[in-house]
Amino acid sequence: MAVLEMRDVSLTYHPEEGPVPAVRGVNLSVAAGEVIGVAGESGCGKSTLISTVLRLYPKNATVEGEVLVDGENVFDMKWNRMRAVRWGEAAVVFQGALHSLNPIQRIGKQLIEPILVHDKGATEASALKRVRELLEQVGLPLRHADAYPHQLSGGQKQRIMIALALTCDPKVLLCDEPTTALDVMVQAQILDLLKGIARDRQMGVLIISHDLSVLSTNCDRIAIMYAGRVVEQGGATELFQHPAHPYTRALMGAFPTIGDTESRYSPSGLPGDPPFPGDLPSGCAFHPRCPIATEECKSVNVVLEQIGPGREAACIHVEKGVSAS
Ligand SMILES: Nc1ncnc2c1ncn2[C@@H]1O[C@H](COP(=O)(O)OP(=O)(O)OP(=O)(O)O)[C@@H](O)[C@H]1O
Ligand SMILES: [Mg+2]
Repeated sequence: MAVLEMRDVSLTYHPEEGPVPAVRGVNLSVAAGEVIGVAGESGCGKSTLISTVLRLYPKNATVEGEVLVDGENVFDMKWNRMRAVRWGEAAVVFQGALHSLNPIQRIGKQLIEPILVHDKGATEASALKRVRELLEQVGLPLRHADAYPHQLSGGQKQRIMIALALTCDPKVLLCDEPTTALDVMVQAQILDLLKGIARDRQMGVLIISHDLSVLSTNCDRIAIMYAGRVVEQGGATELFQHPAHPYTRALMGAFPTIGDTESRYSPSGLPGDPPFPGDLPSGCAFHPRCPIATEECKSVNVVLEQIGPGREAACIHVEKGVSAS
């Protein structure tokens, strides 16, 4: 059963300069107990995609499609219901969130507050018990409840942010770049923790990262975004072993392999910059940077199509067999 299902979701911002279609027709689902990774370059719409789940976008943004949290479309929800769903059923660990802890309040107090706000029946004693459970769950000793944020390391703060998101036992946990500011060992621990939480609590977890290597070992499925669209998705192992879309290949090629002396100093990278969503190239938005683009790509309307069991890609050349690795 999908705890989060996005059906043909689009979001357009409307700044004075003109419309910015940041997310365009995304279909994505997360099952209970499953970890999905969403990757793509800066500006491709990852944070915007998360903002649709809890309707955390500007008032004048326009949205289309459906976002079902445990079967209920958030775009149809009344304000009161939406407030209950935020944190209660879907919780977010925001991009750069580890700096958003209150610097002058002890960690325990910051964890207790949302418990008391959301659970009207909670007492000080039951909330304290819950704080103890949460700290244990994120692998931190109880004494951290008495600490102030500045006394914790970056990784410990990120664990606190995850504990905060878990206070109301949500069905879906959305993590926006949860490990970006952390060293590689701590990154691995945090991702391990998220994977464990998904399994133990049968929670659906969506992790956003621009760093594919972060997602490679911890996700069940991966979706690759480019210019507001999902251009490829599939099981993590298959996708990393046989990337089909030329953008996925380029993204993977941009990461040097340690010990590989041939490519170590010159990861292949990708020429040019990602397009601004307010001024997208015609046809396949990736065509100006694509190493295998043809004339047809400048005008074709690319859609995600099945390319194998549980695999989809949006590229006319993948259909023609260019995907063979
Ligand atoms: N409030 C806004 N008004 C107008 N445009 C916006 C707004 N918020 C984001 N955008 C634009 O929408 C696009 C997608 O932004 P988003 O923050 O979703 O990207 P992202 O993939 O999360 O990038 P990053 O990896 O840098 O966090 C960008 O081009 C951005 O400039
Ligand atoms: Mg972002």
